[in-house]
Amino acid sequence: MSTAISPTAYNYKVVRQFAIMTVVWGILGMGLGVFIASQLVWPELNFDLPWTTFGRLRPLHTNLVIFAFGGCALFATSYYVVQRTCQTRLISDGLAAFTFWGWQAVIVGAIITLPMGFTTTKEYAELEWPLAILLAIVWVTYGIVFFGTIVKRKTKHIYVGNWFYGAFIVVTAMLHIVNHASLPVSFFKSYSAYAGATDAMIQWWYGHNAVGFFLTTGFLGMMYYFVPKQAERPIYSYRLSIVHFWALITLYIWAGPHHLHYTALPDWAQSLGMAMSIILLAPSWGGMINGMMTLSGAWHKLRTDPILRFLVVSLAFYGMSTFEGPMMAIKTVNALSHYTDWTIGHVHAGALGWVAMISIGALYHMIPKLYGRAQMHSTSLINTHFWLATIGTVLYIASMWVNGITQGLMWRAINDDGTLTYSFVEALQASHPGFIVRALGGAFFASGMLFMAYNVWRTVRASNAVEAEAAAKIAVVGAH
Ligand code: HEM
Ligand code: HEM
Repeated sequence: MSTAISPTAYNYKVVRQFAIMTVVWGILGMGLGVFIASQLVWPELNFDLPWTTFGRLRPLHTNLVIFAFGGCALFATSYYVVQRTCQTRLISDGLAAFTFWGWQAVIVGAIITLPMGFTTTKEYAELEWPLAILLAIVWVTYGIVFFGTIVKRKTKHIYVGNWFYGAFIVVTAMLHIVNHASLPVSFFKSYSAYAGATDAMIQWWYGHNAVGFFLTTGFLGMMYYFVPKQAERPIYSYRLSIVHFWALITLYIWAGPHHLHYTALPDWAQSLGMAMSIILLAPSWGGMINGMMTLSGAWHKLRTDPILRFLVVSLAFYGMSTFEGPMMAIKTVNALSHYTDWTIGHVHAGALGWVAMISIGALYHMIPKLYGRAQMHSTSLINTHFWLATIGTVLYIASMWVNGITQGLMWRAINDDGTLTYSFVEALQASHPGFIVRALGGAFFASGMLFMAYNVWRTVRASNAVEAEAAAKIAVVGAH
């Protein structure tokens, strides 16, 4: 039996703050994505200034979409889910507020330092040591708030969504702290504590598990709460959720070497990474199937509910990208795909199709509840957003497949005398149409976020009006 709890018993303030910032950072991060995609079409957009070159803005894009947009979505939903499934308020409002402001400070730090060229040069771990330390402090506080809330739960059981969020929080802390071990030589420059192939291995142990735990496990936590809620059906198989949880976290941690095929990394490590990546297909699809099958008996809802469509299509892209990933991890396939746009297409099948779509679906579910409304201001605008996002993702990944395979084949083509058939510039010219389609797809996706912002703003504004009305009524009653 569940106890009735009034919404004020939960700390919704911090959830609202993170939810709104998810939309804000989503627009900025994806807008920047469209900008750098356009730079690859029209190089003049680099403006011949160091701060605006592709090389400096690209890491800003990845930091904004992964840590600002994705991170805020994970903070918002995990704080919402942990309170509701544990039937208790967050353990500390002060610490929760610290995580919000601390996280925003890290992001603002990234926006300032990355265009200035301050970087560790490690992908997805570019922030220099002062910001990396702040990030570590915020993250450990997040762990205290999350697990502290679990400890003081009023339910006997810990819902499976929290297991996924919990693993994401613990492993992200471990990855960040180990990979950032470095020797600072000035306020803005540090050198990695590791050298050579060890440094590369630790970096891609980090990089792959940033994908596995930040971009996957956390979002699976989201999936396990919001898909059953929106479909109004219990999760298809609770047993499968537990089995795939343990299998997923056990396997992911070994797959990093697939980023370092044909490098100085020992061959056995590359082959181990490849084997583990192939096995990883099983738990990944276990999660995908569990989410999809939750809709058994509720498929008809897809006709009228665009929020559910976001959630289901995100699972389809999750299934697709976790099929593609293991294939790309096979050394002979990687020999063709590595360094090409195929990787970029794979990244965005996961990033746009899975990460962004599931976050958007979860936000549309959550925002009306956070602001005391029955539903979002406009369902038809959610539907428009859904189509822009879906078409945008398909344009993005299809153009990158074509580009990737074209590039891979052109680079390896050799004449009878052993010379290269094509120069690099010829391969670049052949990629140009694909770059245009990708920029267009990105513009579709990013413009959908603008519709979302308008819809959220109207929903929030209506809530203020209702509150104002209620307050006015009390004032009127009081006057009598
Ligand atoms: C079973 C699951 C997956 C496997 C085995 C896998 C495997 C791979 C492989 C082999 C590469 C190419 C490495 C290279 O040639 O450099 C790659 C790149 C990448 N994947 Fe996946 N992938 C999986 C799922 C995902 C998902 C769901 C996402 C996103 C949410 C994702 C995000 C990325 C990113 C960001 C990169 C680019 C890393 C970089 O070089 O910067 N992957 N993945
Ligand atoms: C409107 C949407 C977006 C557009 C137009 C866009 C565009 C781009 C472009 C042009 C690149 C550089 C590709 C290259 O170096 O050749 C890139 C890289 C990347 N983007 Fe996006 N992006 C978008 C959304 C996202 C989202 C939502 C995420 C994550 C949640 C994401 C994650 C990444 C990652 C991880 C990379 C680096 C990939 C690698 O190194 O292999 N992007 N993006």
